[in-house]
Amino acid sequence: MEIENQNKKTLKFPEGFLWGVATSSYQVEGNNSNADWWEWEEKGKAKEKSGRACDYYHQFKTDHNFLTELGCNTYRLSIEWSRVEPQEGEFSDKEFAHYREVLQDLKKRNIKTQVTLWWWVSPLWFSKKYGFHSKESIDFFSRYTQKVVDELGDLIDIYQVFNEPMVPLGQGYLSGVFPPGYRNPIKFFKALNNIASSYQKSYHIIKEKYPKVPVGVSYLYNWYESDNLGFLIAIVSWFSKWFRVDLLDNKIKEEIDFIAVQYYRLGKIKFDWKNIKLDAKNQVYFGFTIKENENNLMGWITYPKGIYKVLKQVKKKHDAPIYITENGVPTDVGLDDKERIIFLREHLKFIHQAISEGIDVRGYNHWSLMDNFEWLYGYRPRFGLIEIDFKTLERQKRKSFYEYAKICKNNEVEIDP
Ligand code: BGC
Repeated sequence: MEIENQNKKTLKFPEGFLWGVATSSYQVEGNNSNADWWEWEEKGKAKEKSGRACDYYHQFKTDHNFLTELGCNTYRLSIEWSRVEPQEGEFSDKEFAHYREVLQDLKKRNIKTQVTLWWWVSPLWFSKKYGFHSKESIDFFSRYTQKVVDELGDLIDIYQVFNEPMVPLGQGYLSGVFPPGYRNPIKFFKALNNIASSYQKSYHIIKEKYPKVPVGVSYLYNWYESDNLGFLIAIVSWFSKWFRVDLLDNKIKEEIDFIAVQYYRLGKIKFDWKNIKLDAKNQVYFGFTIKENENNLMGWITYPKGIYKVLKQVKKKHDAPIYITENGVPTDVGLDDKERIIFLREHLKFIHQAISEGIDVRGYNHWSLMDNFEWLYGYRPRFGLIEIDFKTLERQKRKSFYEYAKICKNNEVEIDP
């Protein structure tokens, strides 16, 4: 539905639409010292160390107050495997009690919980001794899933078992810039197959106890166009989507209840004969590179219409409902984040257009509730509706916070026609 007055147009979202934000445990909790990523940082492989991060582990109630203030009816978060199973086979009652408290607090606030079981980080014992390229990983991961379902399942409304698994698989097994740091295509394919099997097993473990709870995986979509490739772009963008989504999705699509779309940007792909190497840190993939936006901290190009194109593309392949589980923009410090406000309005305008054309989008999670540890980049790029001073851990609302609160509470977005 659209309501128009002279200067503003209001786009209403369907009743029951899920409005939320997302965070991941490793990026916000702090001190996940039994994780492979922790050791990676110790080795100096990331710009900064995650350290105490946002200290969400202790301050989650304060942060949940922000969710209430925003008027969110959902929140996407993750469980840290390395916390609940710090040593092989030794599950921690204390840490499960902690996650119970976190989830119970959300339930008290009437917030639907979307829980991710693996967000790029593994327990160090698992990475050192096994890793996803080893066959044993399937049993270890399934045992972890079973434990989460038994201990916390009554408090989980939606599962995204893996978060964008192709990103850490590519970075951890082909380019080697994420742990476990391999550059080994054979190990890559083994890990891919084991992740697919781990997912399938987890799916059935969850369904056995909670048949009605939706279960899926989140994929990184983005939209790719050509800078100097001419007609070849069709092949390149097909390949890029095949790698990011289809390679895994084709193996597990029978066991997926919804599609979780993560969308950030436009990738303008260039080809450079002089640069035939793999250097993922600088986004060089055997001559193919992605054009940078000099005005953005991570070089990203904002392209709101791309989310509409992605939703159309998803609809062509799947009939399943869609949740947008991440969408956001990296900015620098500053409470006056006009860029994020425009980003929000513009992306929601295109999501609304897709819905009005019959695409079944059921929810939107903005990335992120607050500034957090941005993996290899450390703490400089800021994605939060809330700004964090990482020295004092003081939290302050950005202007976009108030904008998003209006959107969530009214179930509508106001745009300039
Ligand atoms: C990941 C997040 C990350 C964000 C911004 C997403 O693909 O799931 O962990 O912080 O992108 O780079």
